[in-house]
Amino acid sequence: MVTWTFIELEYVGSTQSIAKSYASMGAPEGTTIVAKSQSSGEGRLGREWSSPPGGLYMSFILRPEKISRPELASLISALAVVQGVKSSTGLKSRIRWPNDVMVENKKLAGIIAEGHSYRGEITQLVVGIGVNCNNRMKSSKVDDATSLVDQLGKNFEVSEIKNSILDSFSSLYLRWRAGDDMMPLWKAHVGTIGKKLSVKPKTGETAFPSRAVGVDADGGLKLDNGETLRPEDVEWIRETP
Ligand code: BTN
Repeated sequence: MVTWTFIELEYVGSTQSIAKSYASMGAPEGTTIVAKSQSSGEGRLGREWSSPPGGLYMSFILRPEKISRPELASLISALAVVQGVKSSTGLKSRIRWPNDVMVENKKLAGIIAEGHSYRGEITQLVVGIGVNCNNRMKSSKVDDATSLVDQLGKNFEVSEIKNSILDSFSSLYLRWRAGDDMMPLWKAHVGTIGKKLSVKPKTGETAFPSRAVGVDADGGLKLDNGETLRPEDVEWIRETP
C-alpha cells in the first residue's frame, strides 16, 4: 500500500505546483498536498482548473520504481476516482478517454500527471486530482461540468471522498507494482469506445468528426479512420450525438 502523508492547506495557488516543489526537494512517495481552494488550479495543456471552496483538490507524489509504463499513472488515477466516488457516494461515473471522469457527458473530475525522468526512466510523478464535490457547477461559467451536489442534491465530507479515492489508488498501485496488466480494468470503464466524437488535435488543425472503435495496449484511442490517438496529441475530444 502507499503510505499517505498529508499536508493540508486552506487557500493556495496550486497543490500541483506545491507538490512539485516538495518532490524536487526529495519528499517521499505518498506525500499529498490537499487544499480547500486554489487561486490558479492547473489543468492539462495549460488550462485553468476552477477551484472554489467545496471541491477536492489534491496532488500526490509517486516514485514508481519497478513499475512498467509509469506514464499510465493518469489512467490508473482516473480508475481510482471512478471507484472511490462510487464507494463513497454511490454515484456511477465513467472515463472519457483518456482520463476525464464523467457523469452524463459532464466532467466531474480532472486529472493531471507530471513526470520527471532520469536516464530515460520516469523516477518521479506528481498526480493532481480535482473533483467537483459540494461546489455547484450547474450555473457556473465552466461548460459541461458537474459536481456531486449537482448530481445527488446533497453535500459530502470532502475528506471521505479523498480517502476513498486514495484507498482505491493504493490497491490499484499495489497490483500494478506486482506486475498486473491494469489496462483491461481501465478499458472496461472507458465510455468513449463506440461513441461519435469531435476531435481537436493539438497541432492547431480544426476539429474533425470521428468514431472511437477501441483502445490499444498503450491506452491509445483507435479511430474508425485507422488512426490511433495518443493523449499528448489531443487538445480535446467531445462526444457528439
Ligand atoms: C484537467 O485539465 O482535466 C486536469 C485538472 C487537474 C486539476 C487538479 S486540482 C488539484 C491539482 N492542483 C492543480 O493545480 N491541478 C490539479
